[in-house]
Amino acid sequence: MTLAVKRALLSLGFVPALLAAQPMQVPQPSPGLMPNAARGKALYDEKCAGCHGADLKGTNQGPPFLHRIYEPSHHGDASFQLAVRNGVRAHHWKFGDMKPVLGPSADDVAHIVAYVRSQQRLVGIR
Ligand code: HEC
Repeated sequence: MTLAVKRALLSLGFVPALLAAQPMQVPQPSPGLMPNAARGKALYDEKCAGCHGADLKGTNQGPPFLHRIYEPSHHGDASFQLAVRNGVRAHHWKFGDMKPVLGPSADDVAHIVAYVRSQQRLVGIR
């Protein structure tokens, strides 16, 4: 099984648990989309880096993604889609809530996730 398939299965496993906890619809990328880390980097730099850090190591406004908390089995791709669409209530850290980020589509978020995962793999978070 390829890593991409494993990751897809993991994130699918994550969705029903989320839906059971709260009736929220997870934004779905277009069928057949090939997530592209380079496009994701540009979107990340524009929309996420201000808080999560240009190096993904966090800032005084948001947590690092190069952290085991955000490994795919704990925060699957669906958690990124939901965070961007609905925001996040502070629960892991003391930075405060994340507000919804206006602008990125579900496809854009899939590209951002591809970028974040590629950077996580470089430091052994998988
Ligand atoms: C204004 C600051 C800010 C911006 C901009 C921001 N975030 Fe966040 N984000 C946060 C904070 C703060 C948290 C941590 C909440 C907590 O305590 O768990 C967070 C948490 C998250 C989480 C974890 C969600 C969970 O289920 O725990 C994800 C995923 C995430 N952000 C993705 C993104 C993405 C993708 C972008 C860009 C499109 C982005 N964020 C932009 C502040 C921000």
